[in-house]
Amino acid sequence: MSAHPGRFASRRVVVTGAAQGIGLAVARRLAAESAELVLVDRSELVREAAIELKAEAVTADLETYSGAASALGPHRRVDVLVNTVGGAINFKPFTAFTAEQIQAEVNRSLMPTLWCCRAVLPAMVEQGHGTIVNVSSAATRGIHRIPYSAAKGGVNALTASLALEYADAGIRVVATAPGGTQAPPRRISRGTPERRTEREEAWFQAHIDQTLASSPMGRYGTLEEQAAAICFLASDEASYITGTVLPVAGGDLG
Ligand SMILES: NC(=O)c1ccc[n+]([C@@H]2O[C@H](COP(=O)([O-])OP(=O)(O)OC[C@H]3O[C@@H](n4cnc5c(N)ncnc54)[C@H](O)[C@@H]3O)[C@@H](O)[C@H]2O)c1
Repeated sequence: MSAHPGRFASRRVVVTGAAQGIGLAVARRLAAESAELVLVDRSELVREAAIELKAEAVTADLETYSGAASALGPHRRVDVLVNTVGGAINFKPFTAFTAEQIQAEVNRSLMPTLWCCRAVLPAMVEQGHGTIVNVSSAATRGIHRIPYSAAKGGVNALTASLALEYADAGIRVVATAPGGTQAPPRRISRGTPERRTEREEAWFQAHIDQTLASSPMGRYGTLEEQAAAICFLASDEASYITGTVLPVAGGDLG
């Protein structure tokens, strides 16, 4: 998939969750399109990505406001923020989730985006422009990861509502909703417990079967297909698009 050389020239772009997966694919594409990149992640592996892409690396835990504020805080210019931190941890029926597990899913898949938007918006308002691209999920309509679905529904809501509230300030807020996406084995675990029983395996498989069945194209996407849509929305080519959640899921509308 070809990049658009120079599309992000002179743009300071922050990508969260950039040490692997969709975030790293976005960072690679943005680097190929001349962005001045800041890569934020909880993992030290983000430093490897930063060396590869000649970017600045910041380590921070974005599940806390203090982490988001330290990474994105006041007095730092940010033209574009791409929020990719998230991902389902547990895969099982809702009634099998403990209260702590539900909280952990919301902490992972809603709060980093909410905190990072809060941390970056004052500077964007002051500079009079900015674009935020949130990475949601088609799993807002999916089984065996209900707390994650709820968290991503929250991401969709804050995207639409921030777009309304900050349009006058020259700020666009948009999102993609990826479907199932193929990726190499994760170097950084989400903390998903090992599946020990046939029942746990069947619960996990059921979410894959549902994901494929919900997609008219009947396949998983690639990291590059996700990055292409995110970078389009982040660019000036999408200058008349705000508040939109774009499904990138082979026809699964989430
Ligand atoms: N992979 C998929 O199939 C898929 C499908 C739909 C939506 N999504 C969404 O796309 C996004 C990226 O998914 P992925 O599969 O590439 O994720 P991943 O789990 O492979 O990578 C997530 C990255 O975020 C970092 N991270 C996690 N918690 C953090 C924290 N508290 N603070 C800072 N960094 C933290 C990790 O270190 C890692 O580098 C997520 O929001 C996910 O919900 C993914």
